[in-house]
Amino acid sequence: MIMLNKKEFFVINGLANKKTLKGSVRINGAKNAVLKALASTILFRDDITLKNVPDIEDVGRMIDLLSSLGCNISKKKTGVFVCKYCKKISHILNPEISSKLRASIVVAGPLLARLGKVSFPHPGGCVIGERPIDLFIDGFKKMGAKVQLKRSMYTLTAQNGKLKGADIFFRTQSVTGTETFMMAGVLAEGKTIIKNAALEPEIKHLADFLNLCGAKIKGAGTSTIEITGGKLLTSGNNKYTTPPDRIEAGSFIILGALAASDIKITNCDTSGLESLLEILKASGLSFKTTKSTLHIFNNKKDNSNFKNIDRIKTHEYPGFPTDLQAPMVIFLTQASGECLMFETIFEGRLNYTEELVRMGADIKEMDPHRIIVSGHKSLRGKELASPDLRAGLAYVIAAIIADGRSIIHNIYNIDRGYQHIEKRLRDLGVDIKRVSE
Ligand code: EPZ
Repeated sequence: MIMLNKKEFFVINGLANKKTLKGSVRINGAKNAVLKALASTILFRDDITLKNVPDIEDVGRMIDLLSSLGCNISKKKTGVFVCKYCKKISHILNPEISSKLRASIVVAGPLLARLGKVSFPHPGGCVIGERPIDLFIDGFKKMGAKVQLKRSMYTLTAQNGKLKGADIFFRTQSVTGTETFMMAGVLAEGKTIIKNAALEPEIKHLADFLNLCGAKIKGAGTSTIEITGGKLLTSGNNKYTTPPDRIEAGSFIILGALAASDIKITNCDTSGLESLLEILKASGLSFKTTKSTLHIFNNKKDNSNFKNIDRIKTHEYPGFPTDLQAPMVIFLTQASGECLMFETIFEGRLNYTEELVRMGADIKEMDPHRIIVSGHKSLRGKELASPDLRAGLAYVIAAIIADGRSIIHNIYNIDRGYQHIEKRLRDLGVDIKRVSE
């Protein structure tokens, strides 16, 4: 599924702070869950069906990457893919595709565990920070792999072709690091223990599915995960269903708070959004939740009636998600009062705020990790370029509430993580068009 990297941009005519959006929007399958489920298919010796797969660019890239290894993944119908067992697969990750996808590093775990060898380039990713991979290299060495780096390609070889279970302590929590070694442990000899593991709900969701198929993973969702290595997994009649994307849900909740009179967010699992919902409640947003729907109805007429809390710090789960930091800053520019936003995880994840200042926001940068946002400032439409997928969506939210027209370039970044975003926004009443250059 090679998608042309077409040059396109969005044209958005803003609402000038009027709250006219209404209707309902369905949340799609989680990008950061399904990318790892696709990688985990390497651990299986039979065919696996994946459901509720979002139609986003990163899924396309991951399928391209796995297909370039020799995997056979085909689309059965909208949202449903079958990954057929392939006896012979390559150990070399395609550098061109991997450089577009940070999550490509996750494939190294199952591949090295199954083949005893893997080659990969330093993975690409967003402009949000350096994105080192020392935790991966150190962890694989602990599992007995020999590491060579030649012409910016890493080649890892397991002694006697088999990884050995090991005790791995992450000096800093890493979601993809946790997932990579959880999957490597499934086929390693003996026991692997991961300490200071990430707690994101997508990790437990993946472990639960792998355990259904014969894996022995204990403690996923806690900071210590124990994996007992065994044979290739068998999916049998188990199908993987992608959980709803909590980051996409959080982005639509923020948009709803700022621009909707009455909006229902459906297929939304709010259990992974406590930190965002606590902050929005404290700021004055009222909403009703059922098992899978969040409904904003008697919304504030004017966003200045929301009160900013004095500080927000991004933090590993269950703290405030770094992936919602940019959309939340848009909220902070509109509510009343000042807020210190402290981005603790990535050193480059506040660069997008200069463009918001050009739109009229009052944002002072204290250092690469901290900004102070002073609220209740109207935004004016501008020509913008999305630097990464989460800041890209934040620009879309800013353009929607702004006065006047905005143009947003680099929308491939937004398509990486948000399915058919302009259609879903238009259905809510947003004046947005996708234009090809
Ligand atoms: C995952 O990234 C998500 N990506 C990110 O979402 C998300 O922002 C992040 O978790 C935090 O929640 C996927 O799941 C594909 P990291 P991950 O690189 O796990 C340091 C999005 O927008 N670190 O492990 O890859 C690193 O510097 C994306 O969907 C090392 O020091 O995050 C950072 O401070 C963006 N050495 C921290 O760990 C390493 O070897 C987490 O970064 C690896 C990481």
